[in-house]
Amino acid sequence: MRLTFDDLLTRARGLTRPGRRAILGIAGSPGAGKTTLAEHLVRALNGSGEPWVAHVPMDGFHLADVELDRLGLRDRKGAPDTFDAAGYAALLRRLREETDGGIVYAPGFERVLEQPIAGAIPVPPTAELIVTEGNYLLLDTGAWALLRPQLDEVWFCALDEDERVRRLVARHEEFGKAHEEAVAWVLRTDQRNAELVAGTRGRADLVVPMTALPRVDAEV
Ligand SMILES: Nc1ncnc2c1ncn2[C@@H]1O[C@H](COP(=O)(O)OP(=O)(O)O)[C@@H](O)[C@H]1O
Ligand SMILES: [Mg+2]
Repeated sequence: MRLTFDDLLTRARGLTRPGRRAILGIAGSPGAGKTTLAEHLVRALNGSGEPWVAHVPMDGFHLADVELDRLGLRDRKGAPDTFDAAGYAALLRRLREETDGGIVYAPGFERVLEQPIAGAIPVPPTAELIVTEGNYLLLDTGAWALLRPQLDEVWFCALDEDERVRRLVARHEEFGKAHEEAVAWVLRTDQRNAELVAGTRGRADLVVPMTALPRVDAEV
């Protein structure tokens, strides 16, 4: 049977248990629709009542340009070693364990500056479900291997490769790159990362075909 958006909402709700915070991961290649899916899930689950679901993107754990320059990795921004994977794992552990204190802050990512911003995302103690999303949630190398034990389930966004590349180029253009520059970046830097991510798909608990989700097309 075809998976619907309502099926996903039901499955996400099913991850929570009274008195215990659940964390759902969404993995997938760059441009596959992870952030869009997470935003739609969080919005639909929260409805118009008191928010009980929070969105914490992996993107906030990009290393800052100053550090990428020091490491000589600036032209590979987006590759696994350009993120603070151990910091991300530590935040997930803290989100899981620290549910009766105050707000836990997560870093955000500013797309025009292409820089992480500390303290951008407040997670209140009332959040029962965290939706976290990023390219490398299912990598099992280095500190990335610390993530999976913190996640109740990981879903994988599957999108036709041509469409994924088209959307990714369009997104780079939207945030300021010229067309040629966007295409070059996608084919050179992003593609290598996309192939690495595609290889982790078999470890997902659920593969979500993005084209099977008409309601995800709606504006966020
Ligand atoms: N269902 C969809 N239909 C059309 N465009 C989409 C859809 N989902 C995402 N997009 C667009 O594709 C681009 C990549 O989506 P995004 O959610 O940012 O991917 P990711 O977070 O996996 O990199 C964005 O510009 C987004 O607006
Ligand atoms: Mg994203």
